[in-house]
Amino acid sequence: MKKTRIIGAGFCVPDNVVTNDDLSKMMDTSDEWIYSRSGIKERRWADEKTTTSDLAYEASYRAIKQAQIDPDEIDMIVVGTLSSDYFFPGVSAQLQERLNLRNVAAFDIKAACSAFVYSLSIADQFIKTGAAKTILIIGAETQTKLIEKSTEGRDIAVLFGDGAGAAVLQTSSNESCILSTHLHSEGKDLKNLWMEAPGTVENGWVDDAKIFKSKFTPKMNGKEVFRSAVTRFPEVINEALKHNDIKIEDVKLIVPHQANFRISEAVAKRLGVDTEKVYSNIHKYGNTTAASIPIALCEALEQNRISKGDIIILAAFGAGYTWASAAIRW
Ligand code: COA
Repeated sequence: MKKTRIIGAGFCVPDNVVTNDDLSKMMDTSDEWIYSRSGIKERRWADEKTTTSDLAYEASYRAIKQAQIDPDEIDMIVVGTLSSDYFFPGVSAQLQERLNLRNVAAFDIKAACSAFVYSLSIADQFIKTGAAKTILIIGAETQTKLIEKSTEGRDIAVLFGDGAGAAVLQTSSNESCILSTHLHSEGKDLKNLWMEAPGTVENGWVDDAKIFKSKFTPKMNGKEVFRSAVTRFPEVINEALKHNDIKIEDVKLIVPHQANFRISEAVAKRLGVDTEKVYSNIHKYGNTTAASIPIALCEALEQNRISKGDIIILAAFGAGYTWASAAIRW
């Protein structure tokens, strides 16, 4: 069986910084409320003209450049997003055109905050079996265009931000490789974190979207999501450790989905590790859903938190619920 490794990564966030104080001018909230509950100080919001495919394009361009490959080598594009430019087709088709790639397979997956690890796992299967040699994966969002920027939507509005991260995966010829991926879902509580429209259950919204307005913004039961996240993150990280017969001490860095700093603290506590071992940049970007893990991975690499030979674990949890982990030897 072949092995897969990440040969390049890149990210892109919009220039527009929105601080907690900026938000408190738009809705009834405060820096103290937001920071004490989430660890977030600021986030980036895409302007009206910037789309998810714009951010995805820029992150992909940077990842391809770092990978030092000819874009013609790319065999497949997988995009994780819940805020695609259009309801269909996906951002992946736009990237094929904008990056001027061959007519390769391109598809989007809707696994919310777990979408990047899901994409990584899909790419790993194709490369391991020899069905593909080089795959571009992306997590990208401009989800703040969907949120209600008022007191009514404040529980969601203060947590989320926009951005994109990408990675190029290729057949590995050395020790550096994806060691394992584990993917899970449980749909019974899907309404704890969801956006109902546009969907096909509700008839009539096309004729009178105003009546259904509130269904076009995400809804969240924060306490329940928190409770599940602090259980599923350690569970799926432990699954990776067990599968690879390694201990948490063998892991250099955990790069989790950036949902909430308090969730990361609780995960560190449950795993019995220092909070420092769980990478965090949520103070700068908030929760960027599918983009948060690749952005965090890029920044951890830039900060030399990961060296050749280190074992790292990516871990995700999000709407669905979905959750996932990937153990990687760098
Ligand atoms: N500013 C001020 N007050 C707010 C607010 C905001 N942005 N958002 C909600 N509130 C209010 C609520 O209306 C509620 O008021 P009430 O008690 O009068 O009804 C109160 O604050 C709730 O506060 P608290 O009980 O302290 O909230 P919490 O400890 O559950 O924290 C979250 C709320 C959302 C930060 C927390 O539940 C959380 O992080 N959940 C997980 C979210 C997540 O990670 N989602 C993505 C997963 S991928």
